[in-house]
Amino acid sequence: MDRESSLQRINELRKIIEYHNRRYYQLDDPEISDAEYDRLMQELVELENEFKNDKISQEKFPDILGPAASLSSPTQRVGAPPLEKFESITHQTPMLSLSNAFTEDDILDFDERIKRFLKSEDTVSFVVEPKLDGIAVNLLYEKGCFISGSTRGDGFQGEDITQNLKTISSIPLRINHTKGIHPPDRIEIRGEVYIGKEEFKRLNRRRIDEGDQPFANPRNAAAGSLRQLDSRVTAKRPLDIFCYAMGAVDGISFKSHWEFLQALSRWGFKVNPHVRQAKNIPECIDYFNTMTEERERLPYEIDGIVIKVDPIALQNRLGSVARSPRWAIACKFPAIQATTTIENITIQVGRTGTLTPVAKMKPVHVGGVMVSSATLHNLDEIEKKDVRAGDTVIIQRAGDVIPEVVKVVTSKRSGNETPFKMPDRCPECGSEIVRLEGESAHRCIGLDCPAQIKGNIKHFASRGGMDIEGLGEKIVSQMLKKRLIKDPADLYYLKKDDIMGLERMAEKSADNLLAALEASKNPPLEKFIFALGIRHVGEHVAKILAKNFSSLEDVMSATEESLLLINEIGPEVTSSIIKFFSQSSNVTIVDRLLKAGIAPLKASYEGPSTHLMGKTFVLTGTLDSLTRDEARTVIESLGGKVTSSVSKNTDFVVEGREPGSKLTKAQSLGISILNEDEFQRLVEEKE
Ligand code: IVH
Repeated sequence: MDRESSLQRINELRKIIEYHNRRYYQLDDPEISDAEYDRLMQELVELENEFKNDKISQEKFPDILGPAASLSSPTQRVGAPPLEKFESITHQTPMLSLSNAFTEDDILDFDERIKRFLKSEDTVSFVVEPKLDGIAVNLLYEKGCFISGSTRGDGFQGEDITQNLKTISSIPLRINHTKGIHPPDRIEIRGEVYIGKEEFKRLNRRRIDEGDQPFANPRNAAAGSLRQLDSRVTAKRPLDIFCYAMGAVDGISFKSHWEFLQALSRWGFKVNPHVRQAKNIPECIDYFNTMTEERERLPYEIDGIVIKVDPIALQNRLGSVARSPRWAIACKFPAIQATTTIENITIQVGRTGTLTPVAKMKPVHVGGVMVSSATLHNLDEIEKKDVRAGDTVIIQRAGDVIPEVVKVVTSKRSGNETPFKMPDRCPECGSEIVRLEGESAHRCIGLDCPAQIKGNIKHFASRGGMDIEGLGEKIVSQMLKKRLIKDPADLYYLKKDDIMGLERMAEKSADNLLAALEASKNPPLEKFIFALGIRHVGEHVAKILAKNFSSLEDVMSATEESLLLINEIGPEVTSSIIKFFSQSSNVTIVDRLLKAGIAPLKASYEGPSTHLMGKTFVLTGTLDSLTRDEARTVIESLGGKVTSSVSKNTDFVVEGREPGSKLTKAQSLGISILNEDEFQRLVEEKE
């Protein structure tokens, strides 16, 4: 390709990739497969690399190759190779914290203090904002480009998480200055990285499906995702940000905080839509009350509001004391907490054998809900909080999250409390308990553990799996107790009499269950794979496997090498699949399922087709229904390639209105020429 075509292509690819990023990350509705996306990205990386050391082109085409343009290229967002550890970054101005207010009186005191300090009775105006419950970060921009980003750390120094922050699509890599306000030479922008409530639930569901421990709450999930040494992991987490403050700045000044927030928004940063101006303190208190009500309905978690003096001149006069500004205060919502006592600590065994300690407590109301158990997550958590049976504890319920123990009220200890000990044997089956290196979880390794079997059968029958209607927890428990079943395959060998022998199972319900079992026999292949409960094979991975193999038998006989060749299937998933099918007990279950008449349907999932794989196209003239960019995207998303000139390697020339000399060349070489209709038909053809 000549230089002009390469540059044009770089421009095009950046736009196409930005478009697909939006479909994937913001709309959750991708149009192309990951493999196709990777191909586009790879092409862009290679083209950008061609100009990496070409100073002359860089100067000649600053809009495409200049530092600002390169820094904002989507190639910056994919995540970089893993780091050994995080370096530390010194903030150019310290990241302060906020002092807290808990009551209306505290808020009135704050106003009084300000007036006293300013020696003025004049009413001060404020900006009020939600206080986001996430992780504070500092973003440094120089000449409009994102240079580095860090965690708050101790307020002076934080960890360099630049690569991870670059994967968050709502953090601009370049400040947008098309809307008037020119970005300053240097500015530190501060904000809160968070994970929304729905995204959190989806993330945890996926983790559970894949046999990983769920995160305790959205804040922990955001913190854990930001602290990944491998930014490719971060890139897959649904992180988002709201920006709300400024650190060091050169080359611009603002009259008010409100004006700064407006500028942030025009520059392309996300500013929380609930920020408001308040003329005086009573308006701030009204806002606090409104947000207390609004809180549950917000799609992300907030734990209070922040009140900030609006005029920057006043902020400067007020300054700060003991690392908190005098001009701002955090007003915390009353926590949905309660105090109760732990009667005992039990162990729950999950489908994958993970042991979760659970505190069984004296029932107590927390925010309108009666709570009698709280998760203690794992042994590390128990040790960290030193939770013992008999302890008086403060528990809390946040949003839809499982209640958790916040802390022990040690002053209430009598000395009769019993420290927790992780059992050496599984409480359900007596098998050995192991803790793998690097894991926080303890696991039961028993193959016949009833708790695992029950979890597995429930998973097998679940909606994402075989979708067997009417096979609830209670029925599965009874069937296991009566030894009617011991694995998922047994379900399909049940007789009507067996089922009718269960509690509350009359003839009609037995018939219904048998019909539901029968109806589940032709699942899409991906659902069947998911239903098997292979560790690390959640719905997403199951889909990928189903797309790449035509039958379960093919998946079963896949080699390590062939699995590793599949995009998105890494070594962890691969070894888990190989291990699963190398266990004869699993193979027996699958065989019996197939013998019982289970016949998975190949590819109900209509993955994007790849029927133009390896074909080379040249476009000439103008098409009516598509731009060239779009035509190129379509061809590429089907596996084809578009080049700019006709040669004997060209497979098709697509002819639009007013075609150029490429058409004559194609004719002379005897290459197939397609008009627009023929092209559309070819594209719509399926494999
Ligand atoms: S302003 C000097 N605004 O709360 C002012 N902070 O306890 C700096 N936070 O570390 C902070 N939402 O992590 C500010 N709208 C908001 C905020 C907010 C959440 C966090 C932030 C900060 C902590 C202060």
